Amino acid sequence: MAWLQLLLGCHSSPSSGFTSSSTAEEVTQGIDASNLTAIVTGANSGLGEETARVLAMRGAQVVMAVRNVSSGETVKNSILEETNNARIHVLKLDLSSMASVRGFVSAFKALGLPLNILINNAGIMGCPFGLSTDGIELQFATNYIGPFLLTKLLLTEMKQTAETSGIEGRIVNMSSEAHRYTYWGGIRFDKLNEKSRYGPFLSYGQSKLGNVLHAKELARRLQEEGINITANSLHPGTIYTNIERHTIFFTWLHRCTWFLWKDVHQVNPVHIA
Ligand SMILES: NC(=O)c1ccc[n+]([C@@H]2O[C@H](COP(=O)([O-])OP(=O)(O)OC[C@H]3O[C@@H](n4cnc5c(N)ncnc54)[C@H](OP(=O)(O)O)[C@@H]3O)[C@@H](O)[C@H]2O)c1
Ligand SMILES: *[C@@H]1O[C@H](CO)[C@@H](O)[C@H](O)[C@H]1NC(C)=O
Ligand SMILES: *[C@@H]1O[C@H](CO)[C@@H](O)[C@H](O)[C@H]1NC(C)=O
Ligand SMILES: *[C@@H]1O[C@H](CO)[C@@H](O)[C@H](O)[C@H]1NC(C)=O
Ligand SMILES: *[C@@H]1O[C@H](CO)[C@@H](O)[C@H](O)[C@H]1NC(C)=O
Repeated sequence: MAWLQLLLGCHSSPSSGFTSSSTAEEVTQGIDASNLTAIVTGANSGLGEETARVLAMRGAQVVMAVRNVSSGETVKNSILEETNNARIHVLKLDLSSMASVRGFVSAFKALGLPLNILINNAGIMGCPFGLSTDGIELQFATNYIGPFLLTKLLLTEMKQTAETSGIEGRIVNMSSEAHRYTYWGGIRFDKLNEKSRYGPFLSYGQSKLGNVLHAKELARRLQEEGINITANSLHPGTIYTNIERHTIFFTWLHRCTWFLWKDVHQVNPVHIA
C-alpha cells in the first residue's frame, strides 16, 4: 500500500525503493503517526480496512466511517487484538444518503477531535440501476455526491487542525483507472438519473472521474487560499476485494487471471491524478 506515503509524508518517487508489491506496513515502517487523526470511509472491508488497520498500528487515531456498524465493530475488535493501544472509533455513515452524511459529521464533531486526514475510500462498482434516498443514481450518489458533501462539511475542521498543529492535512479520494471509461463526453450531467441506456460500468467510470476532478479543483483552491492541506486522487491497482460483488464477470476474470491481481496488502499508486 505504497500510496499511504501520500498520507504519512514520504512522497513516492522512483528512488523510494518501494515497488508495486510493497505492503502498507513496509511503507509506513518507522513512522510515528500518533499526532494524527484520520477518518477512513468504508473502513470495514477491503482497502479501507487495511488502511485503518495500518494507520492504527502506526499510532494514528482512526475514525472508521461505516454503513454497517456491527461489521465495523468486528473489524475494530480485530485491530485492537493486534494493536491493543489502538485508538479507534466506529461511526455510522451511509454515503448514499445526504442526511446520513450530515448525521455522521455531527457525531464526529461531538467527539471533539482534530482532523488531519480524510480518506474518501468507500465505493460501489457496477451495480444494477438504482436511485439513492435522495433520488440520485446510486453509484454517482455513493461514489461522488456523498464524499463531496462529506469533504465540504469537514473542511472547516481540517483547516483549523492544519493551522493550529502546523501539520499538513491530507485529503485522498480513492478513484480508479476506470475514470477513463465513462459515457461519451465524460459526465452525463443531463441524464444522471436516467435508467434508459444506464451502463453499470460507464456509470462507475463517471463517478470515479468525478473523484479526480473534485480532488484537482479542491487542491487548486486550497493552494490558492494558502491552506496547508493537499488533495489527491489515486488508482490503487487491481486488488481482489468485495467490490466485485455485483459482477459475476469480475469474479470469473479473477479466477482466470488471479496472478495479475494484487493482495489487499499491496495497494500502490499506479496513477496519481
Ligand atoms: N479493488 C480494486 O481493484 C479497486 C480498483 C480501483 C478502485 N478501487 C476503489 O477502491 C475503493 C475501495 O474498494 P474496495 O476494493 O476495498 O471494495 P470493498 O471491499 O467492496 O469496500 C468498499 C467499502 O465501501 C463501503 N460502502 C459501499 N457503499 C457505501 C455507502 N453507501 N456508505 C458507506 N460505505 C459504503 C462498503 O461497505 P459495506 O461493507 O457495508 O458494503 C465497503 O466498506 C472504492 O472506491 C473503489 O472504487 C478499487
Ligand atoms: C507530537 O506532538 C508533540 C506536541 O506537539 C510533539 O512534542 C511531538 O514531537 C510530536 N510527535 C511526533 C511524532 O511528531
Ligand atoms: C453487517 O455486517 C454483518 C457482519 O458483521 C453481516 O452479517 C450483516 O448482514 C451486515 N448487514 C448488512 C445490512 O449488510
Ligand atoms: C475528492 O477530493 C476533493 C478534494 O480533493 C473533495 O472536495 C471531494 O469532496 C472529494 N470527493 C469526491 C467524491 O470527489
Ligand atoms: C505545512 O505542513 C508541513 C508538513 O507537516 C510543515 O512542514 C509546514 O511547516 C506547514 N506549513 C505551514 C505554513 O503551516
